[in-house]
Amino acid sequence: MTLTSPPTHVAIIGGGVAGLTLALALHDLGISSTVYEARSEGFDQGGGIMLSPNGLRVLDSVGVYKRVRDSASQFDKLTYTDSLDQATDEYYFGSEKLYGYQGIRIMRTKLLDELKAVLRERHIPIQYDSKLATITSDGPDKVEFAFTNGQVACASLLIGADGIHSTVRGTFLPHVKPSYVGFIGISCVVQRSQVRIPEGYSLPATVMAKPGAFLLVPQQPDGSELYIGSQRRFAELDSAGWEVLRKDKQRLYDMLQENKTDWPDVVQSALEVTTVDRMGFWAFHGLPPLTSWSSESERIILVGDAAHAIPPTVGQGANQAFEDVRALATLLSKLSPVVPLSKAVAQWQAYRQDRIKKVLDLTRQMNEKRLPESERAKLPSGSTRSDQSLTRGDGGELRWLYDPDLAQEAEKWVQGLELEQQVDRS
Ligand SMILES: Cc1cc2nc3c(=O)[nH]c(=O)nc-3n(C[C@H](O)[C@H](O)[C@H](O)COP(=O)(O)OP(=O)(O)OC[C@H]3O[C@@H](n4cnc5c(N)ncnc54)[C@H](O)[C@@H]3O)c2cc1C
Ligand SMILES: *[C@@H]1O[C@H](CO)[C@@H](O)[C@H](O)[C@H]1NC(C)=O
Repeated sequence: MTLTSPPTHVAIIGGGVAGLTLALALHDLGISSTVYEARSEGFDQGGGIMLSPNGLRVLDSVGVYKRVRDSASQFDKLTYTDSLDQATDEYYFGSEKLYGYQGIRIMRTKLLDELKAVLRERHIPIQYDSKLATITSDGPDKVEFAFTNGQVACASLLIGADGIHSTVRGTFLPHVKPSYVGFIGISCVVQRSQVRIPEGYSLPATVMAKPGAFLLVPQQPDGSELYIGSQRRFAELDSAGWEVLRKDKQRLYDMLQENKTDWPDVVQSALEVTTVDRMGFWAFHGLPPLTSWSSESERIILVGDAAHAIPPTVGQGANQAFEDVRALATLLSKLSPVVPLSKAVAQWQAYRQDRIKKVLDLTRQMNEKRLPESERAKLPSGSTRSDQSLTRGDGGELRWLYDPDLAQEAEKWVQGLELEQQVDRS
């Protein structure tokens, strides 16, 4: 039976940015939920993320944006510079004037801690150390599921917000597996004051030179730290191999230092003060487009990285996860005989898949820009967007990405379905 009224209680698997934000949005609409998180309460994954207006609007809507803004560094654009430190292109990440919000870079832990604090204030339960093992029954009226710690539970609706290696997805799309895309990002954090930043140089910056692209991104509210790094091709490892690499900080350090003298001085100076102990990396994985973001009963729905993987280039992974949950929460609160879950989910999925496709197109174009010169030369002519208007964004070119208000979008779909019904009746 498809749901024809808002669910009484929702189980959310995964307490990452998507799951926690969904719980808050549902709460504001009068729908209770429980978040089940595999990790322990104090787990700190480290690292920072950049958020753009489309994601920040969602955070604002659940009362979290203003609480984290002052813990973040804020910026409008990423500047691309060449080997002579000249700006060649810019990629707008936000603009208060154009899109309502500046872009921010915030430490992931800070963001998650603040989300969790708001959940606590609203008495929304999070069960830590609760790793979903499997779904024992799916539909028609409820979903029953079990955890690796032996606990079992049930809910009228279950949302899989459990990341790219989603267990929830595996229960109804067992053949879909994330695949490694052949690149890793190697990164470190250095003190900005120790880096030789040219006069008038705009940060954050992507330095394009012979070896490829090198990122220099201020973090912390005062911008005193620089997150630095570069992506490179790297042969696939198995999960044990990735863990070995994670601990082999010397190897990561050596890889980042490779061809150091081919970079302009600003990068060389950053590499000079790079320390082995702060090295990290991220192996990029992709997911094929899913045929469906929900199970056959529609009682299991995927959001965030569980539903779609977005390469890091345009910094939209978390932002798109925010969009997913904002629209879904609004829709769930509006379910009625005229707006049954089946129709609502179909509409949501179609809209979301279309957005994700556009983001992936943008990513591909940006990726080509970031290749080393030798590889860019091999691309068919016209494939690299030298057309800068694509990303400049100071004239609003990225409105399609940054402007949508997903709660409003969802309201429009509901009105559309209601209208359809009236037309059918008359
Ligand atoms: C180094 C790095 C930098 C990034 N930078 C950016 C950026 O600048 N901008 C941006 O928009 N995106 C960025 N991303 C992508 C972004 O982090 C993801 O898109 C985002 O975290 C997805 O959120 P999510 O909640 O869907 O999944 P996740 O954040 O992966 O959260 C999933 C949660 O589910 C839990 N879980 C997993 N399995 C189970 C289970 N079986 N049972 C219970 N719980 C489970 C996990 O412990 C985790 O807490 C970056 C990613 C990385 C790795
Ligand atoms: C370093 O330079 C050599 C010679 O140009 C090249 O073959 C190699 O791929 C480069 N390594 C990196 C990481 O760019």
